[in-house]
Amino acid sequence: MRRGQGSADTSYAGRMIVRAALLGLAGGQAVKDAVTSAPGIGDIVTRFAAGESDDDALRATSDLQDEGFDVTLDYLGEDTLDRVQAEQTAGAYVRILSRLADAGLAPRTEVSVKLSAVGQALPGEGAELATDNALAICEAAKDAGTTVTLDMEDHTTTDLTLASLAALRKDFPDTGAVLQSYLHRTEADCRDLAASGSRIRLCKGAYREPESVAFQSRADIDRSYVRCMKVLLAGEGYPMFATHDDRLISIAEALTRRYGRGPDTYEFQMLYGVRRDEQRRLLGAGEAIRVYVPYGTEWYGYLVRRMAERPANLSLGLRAILDRQ
Ligand code: FDA
Repeated sequence: MRRGQGSADTSYAGRMIVRAALLGLAGGQAVKDAVTSAPGIGDIVTRFAAGESDDDALRATSDLQDEGFDVTLDYLGEDTLDRVQAEQTAGAYVRILSRLADAGLAPRTEVSVKLSAVGQALPGEGAELATDNALAICEAAKDAGTTVTLDMEDHTTTDLTLASLAALRKDFPDTGAVLQSYLHRTEADCRDLAASGSRIRLCKGAYREPESVAFQSRADIDRSYVRCMKVLLAGEGYPMFATHDDRLISIAEALTRRYGRGPDTYEFQMLYGVRRDEQRRLLGAGEAIRVYVPYGTEWYGYLVRRMAERPANLSLGLRAILDRQ
């Protein structure tokens, strides 16, 4: 073993253990109740989300735009099995899009939508309902002068989400989607979607996935990310590099030059509250950078994924909770 390699492996293994533990726990109602009612949890939530109301979302959007960032807003919520709730979520997107337009913020703010939040998981009619709800959101986005990007969830939904994307793009060709480099299939999906007008957000992937469908090691996931970047940059679409990883960001900067991409033909994206230093550095270097801003009351699943990505966030969270007991 080379000098230094041991500690990197240990820290990565530790991270994976926390990640597995957290993602495994996330589904339990008892754990959810304990976390959501813990004193001090609000402080942690506001580190990663703009707040619970439309006003909070608009305020964060305006502040970010004043600094020079573009924004994508995510109305928090996922996995609903209730048709009414799915329609309410779609309504919340329509409402915020109209308020963004009224405030003059829409041209630089798109919205990110999880299809499971607008009905995809409903038995039988789910896929159709989610696509219809997403169509209503796309219509509102077009009226406001902006676009929609479909978030990608666990691998059992990838085909359904890409089928919805194809349906939405017939009327709204600028609808974007997320692809996850940890999935074996993603390089081929990038090839299929690297066409003119196609907006693809490339990320590593945030769900716990089995070996049969996903790369498990950091090195394999990163190598896949680089292969996917090359496919997207060689194509005619608009790639959106969603990562906080220094190494991948440097590679992206070098590849965009190698592929002769102008600054308005791709963008970087990062999560609200994560690596603000790097967000500002990229902005200063003349790159377009969009911040993914979640808001709303259903923050639990989102927060658990952010904690699972980084043990330091977990200790921050636990410390804040314990300090208030
Ligand atoms: P990695 O996890 O290796 O992190 C690199 C470095 O960034 C870390 O060492 C740390 O310094 C910092 N960092 C990363 N995450 C952090 C955190 N939570 N808190 C503090 N520091 C952190 N996933 C998905 O499955 N479906 C989706 O639709 C999306 N959508 C999406 C949109 C956008 C705009 C982004 C940026 C990300 C997503 N993701 C996602 C999440 C994505 O898959 C991934 O889990 C995270 O971005 C973390 O991966 P990185 O590429 O940042 O690398």
